Amino acid sequence: MTRIVHVSDLHYELAPERLKPGVRQLLDQSVPILKETHPDLVVVTGDLTSYGCFDRNQLVGVHRWLEELGLAYLAIPGNHDFSANVARGNLYPIMETYEAVPWDQTNFAQTFHQGPLVTVQEGPLTLLAVALREGDPDGSLAQLAVALQNLDGPAIVLGHYPLVVTKDVGVLATFGYQGYIDAVRDQLLNLLLAQPLVRAYLCGHVHAQTVTVLDGGLVQLSAGGLGPGASAGWVIDVVGANLEVRSLRGGGPEIFWPGEMLGDCDSLDYHLWCGSEPLAIPLGRAVAS
Ligand SMILES: [Fe+2]
Ligand SMILES: [Fe+2]
Repeated sequence: MTRIVHVSDLHYELAPERLKPGVRQLLDQSVPILKETHPDLVVVTGDLTSYGCFDRNQLVGVHRWLEELGLAYLAIPGNHDFSANVARGNLYPIMETYEAVPWDQTNFAQTFHQGPLVTVQEGPLTLLAVALREGDPDGSLAQLAVALQNLDGPAIVLGHYPLVVTKDVGVLATFGYQGYIDAVRDQLLNLLLAQPLVRAYLCGHVHAQTVTVLDGGLVQLSAGGLGPGASAGWVIDVVGANLEVRSLRGGGPEIFWPGEMLGDCDSLDYHLWCGSEPLAIPLGRAVAS
């Protein structure tokens, strides 16, 4: 059996921790939980740090933390590691410093030594991890389009940002899928929808564990924020003709967003998927005739 574990938004900080004091301790509490799942691969969909695009040492720190897990992993950057656009950089100059340089010169690429698209084969699954910023100056989508054309089996695509809204109430009715890669987001979504072999899109950024079913049965899964909360991700198993997806609770806080931002929803319900049965995602997808 092939098992993928999906977590996101570690928000690792070197001392002194400023945005989330105690975050490294919270992350360390999740280490035994991750190990006990015995994954073939851990995927991390961005915001590995809070200040990585301002200070490369932060990315060096989280790279070391990931290496010390002792598990195979695949990580992509989020807006705190690899800023999405100039406007965000101007709004948050320390947390989302825009690096107006080619991919190879960014803090993330210099630390993780990978390209804007990474392809990994795990059992029958191809995983395609894409780093994307506004306007796609790195040519990430062209690389992804070629990889998608060449697929000959089921695939999962990883990105940081949700491609559609994750919650229709509260803060996430607007936050998360807008404001970062607006000019290229639909291009990415359309690439995925046009390839029936893509079964799931794994993302983070919203700090909540959500499930959204898109056209053709493509499923968008967001993992929570393993460090700051909601400390929850996904265990994804290949079982027969399906992907079976179960919730994985980490060792950190169960909630992230304050109650007054949730539109009168129960805070736990807002942050955590509460299905009692695993989600089943067929590995084969119906193609419109
Ligand atoms: Fe985040
Ligand atoms: Fe983010």
